[in-house]
Amino acid sequence: MLNFVFNNATKLIFGRDTHREIGGLIRERAERILLHYGGGSIKRSGLYDQVTSSLREHGVSWTELAGVQPNPRLSLVRRGIDLCRQENLRFILAVGGGSVIDSAKAIAMGVDLAGDIWDMFERRLEPQTALPVATILTIPAAGSESSYNTVITNDTTQVKRGCRGELLRPVFSIINPELFFTLPHNQMAHGVCDMMSHIFERYFTRTEKTDLTDGLCESTLKTIMRNARILNRDGSDYDAWAEIAFAGNIAHNNLLGLGRMQDWACHAMEHELSALYDVPHGAGLAVITPAWMKYIHTKHPEMFVQFAANVMGVGGSARASETMALEAITRLERFFAELGLPLTLGALGIDDAKLEFMAKRLTGFDGNREQRIGNFESLGWEDILAIYRLAR
Ligand code: NZQ
Ligand code: ZN
Repeated sequence: MLNFVFNNATKLIFGRDTHREIGGLIRERAERILLHYGGGSIKRSGLYDQVTSSLREHGVSWTELAGVQPNPRLSLVRRGIDLCRQENLRFILAVGGGSVIDSAKAIAMGVDLAGDIWDMFERRLEPQTALPVATILTIPAAGSESSYNTVITNDTTQVKRGCRGELLRPVFSIINPELFFTLPHNQMAHGVCDMMSHIFERYFTRTEKTDLTDGLCESTLKTIMRNARILNRDGSDYDAWAEIAFAGNIAHNNLLGLGRMQDWACHAMEHELSALYDVPHGAGLAVITPAWMKYIHTKHPEMFVQFAANVMGVGGSARASETMALEAITRLERFFAELGLPLTLGALGIDDAKLEFMAKRLTGFDGNREQRIGNFESLGWEDILAIYRLAR
């Protein structure tokens, strides 16, 4: 196990009706806020009215910035920064999913920043200042409600980049599984795939002697799959949503990655897809993850036998490691198909035209040098291209 520091500063408020506490929780911290949300689902569901009446009741006033799109855009972040500066707003409430929360975090980073906000993403700088952000989560998926990341798309250059730092962890997040009943089926599936990927990125490691986090990863993956199958039939099962939401949260608050070298190649390869083709992050991961596994599994037979036996329920002899690994990957693809997720780039509407461009851009290949990605298996642009081709 590697050395680690864990300081998950986000307070979680979990369960039925908890969103109604929002006014009181904010009032302890601020009287005027920026209320940030997406394309309108919170108005259709009635959540907007419940949140604003609780704010009003507790004497909290707000300025609104709506319109966050999935794969949140830099241009709206810039508008948010200007708005907070003009109106001297020092607290942000994000009501939505990963996109709204990430947009809020980026605004929070930018308000007191002397330089340009995109520079922080381009140069992967750690923010030294950020306004406090609180969230009411409306889709369990990205884990941004207590992660230290934000991921933003530059809508001028079509580049998607992350930025991270402890200051970006929300001060508190409200997770009420009842708020997920209105999610369309495909959004449930995208979220499930994303949270599973957050675990895979940590689970597949070269670090040894990690019994506890191995077990936590395996148990969380199985919990997600079992409960996703329930939601596949019934999108208003409170208990199943509660399990998925809790699992999705710990999948990305980094508890499961402590003391282990993490990979993150699948996320990097997916971010190229969502940057250029604006596909949902979870759908892109459903296509990339099995292809990545097929490409690398022969180099790590022990890890894939463990995954096959402990997560995917594959029996057999560890001496037949390749058979076990391939069966595990097939079962994972079957599970994604059960949820209606795409399994090929074609199903996402992506053809071959830009595969090489994406592989080279991702590694910054300049004809000579490149920045390889992934720690479990280090990948250069030719490996990435091979994985994209396997995903066709
Ligand atoms: O915009 P509205 O109208 O609210 O609709 C949203 C959006 O269209 C809808 N939705 C959300 N809650 C709903 C609902 N519809 C009905 N009922 C509800 N209760 O769902 C759609 C997708 O929302 P979005 O926020 O985009 O989904 P998600 O949470 O999957 O976030 C994806 C973004 O998070 C980033 C991804 O790259 C992507 O940009 N990620 C952020 C991470 C982080 N900050 O730690 C880590 C992740 O790996 C990920 O990269
Ligand atoms: Zn993700």
